[in-house]
Parts: sequence; C-alpha cells; structure tokens
Amino acid sequence: MSLRIASGTANRALASKVSSALGADPLAGEVERFPDGELRPVVHGVRGDDVFVVQPTGPPVSDHLVELLLLIDACRRGGAGRVTAIVPYFGYARQDRRSRDGQAIGARVVATAVASAGADRLVVVDPHTAGLEAMFAIPVEALTAVPAIANALLPDVTPDTVVVAPDLGAVKLAERYASLLGLPAVFVRKTRVNGTTVRAEEVVGQVDGRPTIVVDDMISTGGTIEATVRLLLDNGARLDVVVAATHGLFAGEAVERLARLPLRRLVVTDSLGGVESLALPVEVSSIAPLLALTIGRLHRDEPIDDLLAGA
Ligand code: R5P
Repeated sequence: MSLRIASGTANRALASKVSSALGADPLAGEVERFPDGELRPVVHGVRGDDVFVVQPTGPPVSDHLVELLLLIDACRRGGAGRVTAIVPYFGYARQDRRSRDGQAIGARVVATAVASAGADRLVVVDPHTAGLEAMFAIPVEALTAVPAIANALLPDVTPDTVVVAPDLGAVKLAERYASLLGLPAVFVRKTRVNGTTVRAEEVVGQVDGRPTIVVDDMISTGGTIEATVRLLLDNGARLDVVVAATHGLFAGEAVERLARLPLRRLVVTDSLGGVESLALPVEVSSIAPLLALTIGRLHRDEPIDDLLAGA
C-alpha cells in the first residue's frame, strides 16, 4: 500500500508540512460548496492506498467535521486500502458528559460518526478528554505536543518559576509540564459562568513574587486564560506571565482579550489553521514533525508508544 496524505480545507498548511516531511505528494482533491452550504469533497486515485486524512475540526467546527466525514467516505468508496483520520484538534471533545439534564454527549456522537464514515483509526493530539478512546469503536492514538512545547518553554525556566493549571481538568497536564521543566505546579479553582465567561476563584499554591507559566490543552475564547492571569496578578505573581496551550482556537474575542494581558510569551501549536496570521505575538511550536513521524510509523506498522500522551 502506498502512503498518501489527503487534506481537507481546515489546515492545508499543516497537511503540506506533513507531506513534505514524509516526502509524499499531497493527494489532489477539491471541495465543492453548494449555494445551500452543502460540501462535496472529491479525492482522486486512492485505490489500494494507505490514506491519512488530515483535518482538524476547529472553527467552524461542524463544517470541518462534516467535511472530514465526507472525505473519509470518499476515500473508502474510492477503494483506499486503509483510512486513518488525522484530527489533531478534535472538536466536541469537551462534550464528554452531561452536566445537566437535556444535553447530548457530543463527543460520543461524533466518535460514532467518524467510525461509521469508514475510518480505520483516529489520531488526535492532546485531546480534551483522556476518555476519548473509550467512546470509539476504532483504535484512537492520542499523541502529545507537550514535550515539544515544554522544550520551547525551557528558556523561561528560573528556579522560582511555577507551572499553573487554570482549572482542575488541567492538573494532570500541568504536572506533565512541571515534571519536564523540573518545576512545581499549582492550580486555580475555576467556575464556568457560560461559553465565554469563567470565574477564576482561588489559586491553590504559592505564586507571590514568582514568574508563572499557565498551561492548558486549548484556548478558545481566552476567558479561562484572562481570568487566570488576572487572578495570578492579584495574588502577587510577577508581571511576566507565559501562556502555553496545544490548540489555539482563538474564537470570539480571544485576540482582543489576550492582547490586553501582560503576557511575555504565548505559545501554541499549528494544530489549527491561521495561528501564524493573528494580530497577537503568538509563537508556534509545529506539530508537523510529530505527525510525520507518527504517520510514517503507522504506515510501516511500527510502534508509536513513545509519542503517546500517556507515555
Ligand atoms: C476547559 O476545560 C478547557 O481545558 C479550556 O480551559 C477551555 O476550553 C478554554 O476555553 P476558553 O478559552 O473559552 O475559556
């Protein structure tokens, strides 16, 4: 089976970096959009191939998701020998439980759709929920960008620096950064008021007079980072705050919000398109080498244990 990289429209720049790193030509294909908004992706010449479909499901999440499903189906119907969905940012992962009556479990619905469309395997990067794989009937490989981002943060490490988890859900992630950087971790108690507003209520741990590195899996509206940074400053943390997250969605007013904060560095990966062209001094730690390494090994049926989030 020949290795082929198919790209949706969500992040063609990433797909092209991955293809170059692998020395593979990206598959020719196009996406038609009908006047009513329907999408029709077309892929050519995949019969018998080992196809990797690169399509993060960032904003607009539902359009990118439908495009992913149709691309997988197109590869399957085109006779691909194996189809792997490379979805570095997996939208709907935050809907992994019902927080009140009447809600759906979006992550589970999307998982079923991806498997039913015909994917043999899914590859994600630092998914919001560690339990994502359990929702799927197909194997899920959860890679991590944390070692690469931590490496980019090394120049900021001083003996008194503290890693901050902006909520309880980020504690494990903060501990991973803390262990890679040789630093202590503290966490913030956060309450979500609605989709765009959160309340950062208390810092659990010492930040007074210290430089801080706030880490999260994703930045969406920037509400979590804004509330956390303001609370850290109120608690006497040093003004030069560093923020790092795997996925930069920068939805809604995120750019304006983050621009108002005294951030020394803001580091994200290129899991989502467009981060390089934001009106913010964002530093990008590319996941293309990680994806290329993973795809190469999966293609050759080699182990990838050392690249996984749980490693
Ligand atoms: C929440 O549990 C996530 O880990 C992020 O903290 C959250 O999704 C970020 O969203 P926003 O930037 O809108 O606060």
